[in-house]
Formats: sequence, C-alpha cells, structure tokens
Amino acid sequence: KILILDFGSQFTQLIARRVRELNIYCEIHPFNHVPAIDDSVKGVILSGSPYSVRQEDALHYDFKTIHGKLPLLGVCYGAQYMAHFGGGEVMASSTREYGRANLDYIKPGNPLFKQIPQHSQVWMSHADTISRIADDYEVIASTETVKVAAYQIKDTQTYGIQFHPEVTHSIDGKQLLQNFLVDICGCTQDWTPDSFVETTVAALREKLGDDKVVLGLSGGVDSSVAAVLLHQAIGKNLHCIFVDNGLLRKDEFESVLESYKHMGLNIKGVDAKQRFYDALSGLSDPEKKRKAIGRVFIEVFDDEAHQVQDVKWLGQGTIYPDVIESVSVKGPSATIKSHHNVGGLPDFMKLKVVEPLNTLFKDEVRRVGKTLKIDDNILGRHPFPGPGLAIRILGEITPEKVAILQEADAIYINNLRSAGVYDKVWQAGAIYLPVQSVGVMGDERTYENVVCLRAVESLDGMTADWCHLPYDLLAKISNEIINNVKGINRVVYDISSKPPATIEWE
Ligand code: XMP
Repeated sequence: KILILDFGSQFTQLIARRVRELNIYCEIHPFNHVPAIDDSVKGVILSGSPYSVRQEDALHYDFKTIHGKLPLLGVCYGAQYMAHFGGGEVMASSTREYGRANLDYIKPGNPLFKQIPQHSQVWMSHADTISRIADDYEVIASTETVKVAAYQIKDTQTYGIQFHPEVTHSIDGKQLLQNFLVDICGCTQDWTPDSFVETTVAALREKLGDDKVVLGLSGGVDSSVAAVLLHQAIGKNLHCIFVDNGLLRKDEFESVLESYKHMGLNIKGVDAKQRFYDALSGLSDPEKKRKAIGRVFIEVFDDEAHQVQDVKWLGQGTIYPDVIESVSVKGPSATIKSHHNVGGLPDFMKLKVVEPLNTLFKDEVRRVGKTLKIDDNILGRHPFPGPGLAIRILGEITPEKVAILQEADAIYINNLRSAGVYDKVWQAGAIYLPVQSVGVMGDERTYENVVCLRAVESLDGMTADWCHLPYDLLAKISNEIINNVKGINRVVYDISSKPPATIEWE
C-alpha cells in the first residue's frame, strides 16, 4: 500500500482517489499521526497544504524518516517542505502561480516523467515558490515561470513536484502518478472490488468467528453493502434491523424490506411510526427535530438489539470520508447541521463496532455493491437524509403532512424516472412549505399549501448546483401534483446553489 501524509490540502482526498483508480490501495493519515511503517508500505506521498513552509507555525514532518528508505513524492507543500528543509530555499512568489502551465523542460529519461511529452499541461496552485535547491537536488522539470517545477534528490527515489498531478487539468497527472507508484514504488495494480470483497469477507470471518452482529439498515447504499458483506461472512449471525420511522418516502419501507428479504438477509422490519410522531409532536426547530429523531432511533434500535441473544457487535456502514474527517489535520470540520448518523455509538450499547467499508470512498462502495450483485434499485438510489421527510416538512410534523408530502414526492420522483433523468440528478425531493396561498379550482377559491421541488447536481453533497430540468417536465410534474394531491395548490422550483443555500431546507 501507499501512505499519503496529509498536511491539510483540499486536494488530499483527490490524490487518494487517483491512486485507487490505478487499482492501488492507499491510506491517508494526518502528518502528525503517522502509523508504523512496515513492509506493506511501498511508498509515501506528502500532500499539499494551506500553510507555508516559511510560516513560524509550519507543519513539520521529518521526511528523512522515509527519504532513502522508501520512495517518496512531495506534492506542492510536500515538495517545498523537502526543498526548504533539505538545504534549499522557498520564497513568496513574485507572480501569481495559479492555473494552467506547461512543462517546457523535462529531463530526458527521468522515470517520473516516463511517457510524458514535452509541454505537457500541468495545474499550479501555490503562493510560494522554490527559489533555490541544495546541491544534491536536481531539477527534472520546469515551466516558463517556475524553474523548479519538479526535482529529484540525486541517486535516490525522493521526488518533489510543484504542480498538482491529482487534478484532471494536469493532463498527464495520472501517468505521472502511475510512473511513481508502479515503476518507482513497485506497486502491483491488483486492488479491485473483487479482491476487496474476497479479502474483506475472509477478514470478517476471522474477526467475528461465531459472534452475532446487529446492523441497522436504512435502504441506503452504504448500510446495504455493509450488510451484504457481513452476510457473506457470517450468514444468519448477522441480524439486520430496518426501522420504519414514518418519515420515509411513499411505500419505501415495504419495497425496500422486500428487496432485502430477496437478498437473503436475516432482517426484521420494525414499525415505530407512532413513537417518532409522538416525539416530534410540538417541535418545529430543525435541530430539535433531528435530535428527537436520533434519540428515538437509538431507543428503538436498542430495544430490538436486546432481543437478539448474546450479540457482541454493532455493524455500521461508515465510509472512508467519515473516518478521514474525524481524524483530519484541522479536526472535524465545523458542524453546520448535526448529522445524527455520524454521532457514534451511544454509551449504553456496549457493543464492539465492525465497519467493513471504512476504507472505501462512495463510488468504490457502489462498485463493490455491483460486484456483490446488489440491486440497481438500491445502488443507484439518491442520498436520503436520516431524519427523512421530517427535514423536508418545514416546521411541525404531523402524519397528515407526511402523507401529503409522500404523494407529491412520489409523483415527482416517478416522473424523473420515467423521463430518464433520475440517474443524472444527484439528489431530488419535494419540500412541504408552511405557506398557504390562494388558488382557484373550478369555480372555487382554494387556500392551500405550497410544495417546492428540489433537484441538485453534486459530487459529494458538499457543494451543489440546481439542475436545469426541462420546463416541459416541470410543467407535467406541477400539473400532476396539483391535480392529484389534496392540500397542495401551488408548486415552485428551487434554483439555489450550495453554497450559499443547502440541499435540504432545514
Ligand atoms: P445539506 O442540506 O447540508 O445536505 O446541504 C448535504 C447532504 O446531507 C444530507 N443531510 C443529512 N443526512 N442526516 C443525514 O443523514 C441529516 O441530518 C442530514 N441533513 C442533511 C442531505 O440530504 C444531503 O445529501
């Protein structure tokens, strides 16, 4: 495997993605929490950083721990760090060095640049520049303005590059990473979803033996893939619990439960609708609603888990970005909304935790799901928040409002599917607004609620843009909702991006 030491760059996860796209396994660790480096580590990458090596509080990592022992690649800050603290000098650059540049010089025959043509376009993003390198360093690539665009410490496998090979604007970035990983580090490109399933199932079997595991299924991709992996490892000793909180989409509970049974999972569906509605009654503050739902979920889950004799483990569908986030250089990023499902384990459930997906990115989870032959209907599903429709009904929740929103949402989503746009949208849903407006139906004046439609494009939910759905489709959906859903006489479309808006309305 490859270790990526993170100095806090926004691109660090992207480096990991690129390495994995080359079917090579890698892990990100904060520069100040580096694990023991054993024989399984074939090379190390130092990431970029928002810091400057000239700053007094620069982030320090003694690169000589690795240098000379294992192949080492510094990217941006990583490169500047090794240049500066290896006897050279880094200064603030006189010209801004952001965006496109071309490698006018590449040292012929250097292994890092194998098959990369002269003038290859690279992407720069830095305010500092390497102004001088020590005698045992050698420039191996330059651009017009950046002389030290890449260097090698002579006769070693330590390299530094000022540009970002991980972004797609660096045209040969992937080739450069492949040169480093395969030719220089000697990695084999055999990390695939199939090999992941094989080794994970074997490891789970070994770890869990005859122990029982409980796992809460949500209908989402992560918990479903985690369940199928655990099921392959320990069969009926996996006890799945699927809670109907009364805040799911129309018919979702029944249809998803059916799919899970079809997949052979040992699953219990629990109707806890009333417990959730009772807890939500009278609450209109979004955070209070989230907390109430989180609390009731834990209570219901705990009741159910206690009915399984001798259970030792709690299975969770935690994925890699959640893990990186919780140990990141800057600490967990500021909580904008309390996402209750990443809150960890309640104290009173003294179970050990097993998280089979905690090394995977979201798209890798989907690829593993495909290998496991999980239904497209589950794998291709839009993200859906844990508190469900409760945060899509602004203000107080009542079963009547839930029923109205479920109808409107079902019309919306079914239309997206039949128009063939469902898979192009990252997430969509209808929102019930606490606003009444005047309408006219036949000869009668109406005074009913508004439903807002939301559809966004996004990669990870962190940023998003609204989808430019065709007008004809919006017209058809609006018509169907107003004509069929009693209580709604007006439909609007949300055209806000995130930031500054969020995807959900609460
Ligand atoms: P926002 O609204 O913050 O949403 O732009 C980003 C993504 O997170 C989902 N989301 C939640 N998921 N519990 C969840 O499990 C929550 O409380 C929650 N709030 C928002 C949202 O659906 C979107 O995918």
